[in-house]
Amino acid sequence: MRESPAPTIAELIIPTRVHTPESAAFEEMVAVMNGVAVALWHNDDFAYTAEAELASLQAQEFHEKVVFVAVVDGVIVGRVVADFPLEEDAVTATLLVDVVPELRGRGIGSALLAKGEDLVQDGGRTVIAAYTEHPAATLHGGPVVRADAGPSGLPADSPDVLFAQRRGYRLGQVERFSSLELPMPQGRWDTLLADALAHSGDYRTVSWWRSAPEDLLDEFAALKERMTVDIPQSGIALDDEQWTGDRVREHENELIARGEPLLTTVAQHIPSGHLAAYTEITVPDDGDKAEQYDTLVALAHRGHRLGTLVKLENLRRLADRAPRIRRLLTWNADENAPMLAVNDAFGFELQGLTGTWQKSLA
Ligand SMILES: CC(C)(COP(=O)(O)OP(=O)(O)OC[C@H]1O[C@@H](n2cnc3c(N)ncnc32)[C@H](O)[C@@H]1OP(=O)(O)O)[C@@H](O)C(=O)NCCC(=O)NCCS
Repeated sequence: MRESPAPTIAELIIPTRVHTPESAAFEEMVAVMNGVAVALWHNDDFAYTAEAELASLQAQEFHEKVVFVAVVDGVIVGRVVADFPLEEDAVTATLLVDVVPELRGRGIGSALLAKGEDLVQDGGRTVIAAYTEHPAATLHGGPVVRADAGPSGLPADSPDVLFAQRRGYRLGQVERFSSLELPMPQGRWDTLLADALAHSGDYRTVSWWRSAPEDLLDEFAALKERMTVDIPQSGIALDDEQWTGDRVREHENELIARGEPLLTTVAQHIPSGHLAAYTEITVPDDGDKAEQYDTLVALAHRGHRLGTLVKLENLRRLADRAPRIRRLLTWNADENAPMLAVNDAFGFELQGLTGTWQKSLA
């Protein structure tokens, strides 16, 4: 069914501000992508304001981001975002491709992906990552496509899975997307806390809202750098990220500008003063859901229930700061058994699976 006019693929100019004549196309793109997210999840968990999306696209010091849109009859019907990590030796780029559900199967996604792959090639990168998302209701127990590691698979008959496979992408990793109802039942909370405290005598927690304290900044940056190294990433190539205090500040400021500042708790090893673990939640200015970002326990400090300790303390702070938050969303690698065990004990429930696909251009 390809009788409709071919889409025009054009670069989207990233405006300096929203609500100006120059920002109309950008705002249209955000509205179209919000519609795609609502159609997929049947809720507005992943619908964002134009201000928030602009803040993320404008943060380009450590990632270059380029957007092309597909236009049919003067209307935006899809887009590709090409994201280039700017580390000196980076080899990867990420492509996010989405088309409005009503016009799928007409070659628009293929045209956007081809544009994105040209950008990656021109940018001298050799490994492309792309994502597919699969709500729990679409996981029907039929044939699945698996990554090398992890027990879960993606539905083999999903149009998105077929699209990725037919264009040379390989499933590198499956992530579990889950959510936790807040507040947690008191009994579960007490059990988890007693267990964590019994194992973490040499550690204390420190928490902050929005920005890390200056005296912990460099050590916190060093811990964040481990996030691209110390996590399970069996089937995918990731560029190692270099984190400095400046980069932590840019990340904090991007989320403040999005209207979703970070609430962070770290565990500090009391005898040495070193930071051993951290966890982050982004807390939107309104609404009832928040998103879990990184959680990491440094390799040398594992086995002391520090993941549980920092998560509990961050949730306690969240309840103080924003009691309206009733759901916490999180994503974990399907093969990350220790992290999933912590989340199961908290009571997180599966909402869907995400596939990370990779294609090598070399
Ligand atoms: C994946 C996606 C971008 C494809 O967009 P699209 O415009 O449907 O792409 P195309 O029309 O170029 O190709 C879709 C393929 O599915 C087939 N198809 C037929 N009817 C279809 C329908 N109703 N819906 C989806 N695909 C259909 C097409 O014929 C084509 O087959 P091919 O792979 O053998 O060529 C789109 O489905 C989407 O936005 N999905 C959600 C986001 C996503 O998963 N993106 C990551 C992609 S790696």
